Amino acid sequence: MSNDGNKYVLEDIGGGLYSFRHIQTGEILHGTVGPEKEARDLYMGSSGLMQNNAPSRTVFDIGTGCGAQLLALLDFINEPNNTCENLRIFSFDLEKLGLQALAGAAGHFPSALIHQEFLERAIATDNVIMKTPSGKTVEWNFVAGDFRETVLIPLTKEDGLKADAVFYDFFSPASHPWLWTFDLFKKLFEYSHPKTRLVTYSSATSVKAALAAAGWFVGNTIASGKKAKSIIAAGSLGELDDPLPAKFLSTFENSHKPFCPSETEESKQNIRERLRCHPQFRQD
Ligand SMILES: C[S@@+](CC[C@H](N)C(=O)[O-])C[C@H]1O[C@@H](n2cnc3c(N)ncnc32)[C@H](O)[C@@H]1O
Repeated sequence: MSNDGNKYVLEDIGGGLYSFRHIQTGEILHGTVGPEKEARDLYMGSSGLMQNNAPSRTVFDIGTGCGAQLLALLDFINEPNNTCENLRIFSFDLEKLGLQALAGAAGHFPSALIHQEFLERAIATDNVIMKTPSGKTVEWNFVAGDFRETVLIPLTKEDGLKADAVFYDFFSPASHPWLWTFDLFKKLFEYSHPKTRLVTYSSATSVKAALAAAGWFVGNTIASGKKAKSIIAAGSLGELDDPLPAKFLSTFENSHKPFCPSETEESKQNIRERLRCHPQFRQD
């Protein structure tokens, strides 16, 4: 399947909710719960951004698509009663077709209507700096291109850029396995600090294993419109309310799909070895 050119159609998902269906994969973004609830409950709720007291926060919005997490972040910075004064967002995507679809259907998404001016600017340019009515600053940067390449390019001139939260929302590992690999999670780990949290809707064993092998501590967070819990990864064990237990090692070893199909033999070997000595799973 081609991985470029992502077109969406508006989809009525019932209960008065709307989302977008990605034409190539047939995937409905944010499944049955809808974009606003999933972005708010799963991504924002698990991210720790609301509990963090630092005045400046940096977020990677990976797989921006039709902008559900982006809108939730704008809602967050527009909320006067939190300590965040400066929010810096790096949004990664191949292109802005999803944001254009959102802008075209803004009437179905209350947050999109509120942030219409931001959306128009974001579609027109890759860097938007705006003040909220209470004087807070949001700086948005669009990182256009294939994530396998853009993740390798320095995002700023400053050394040691760290993300406080990472929202990882690509199409599923089944349809886009090349975006769920050990190498990508290892690269992202370089942007982490001990309190960084990475949130994704996936619950796949192969994703948990690749994240852990890449250096992350890995746990479960809320299920979002499905049975299995979603994955949260963090820069330290203390950030996780529900860390994977040591017996995850045997789950991994007995799994029919322990690796994402795009992993190289070298990466598979690395994952096996690194998992065995990961401090989260050591049983001594
Ligand atoms: C599941 S959608 C994201 C949904 C989005 N977060 C939302 O709230 O609407 C996945 C996104 O990944 C993007 N994508 C697919 N392949 C990519 C790649 N190789 N590099 C960067 N982005 C990619 C697609 O353009 C699409 O917008």
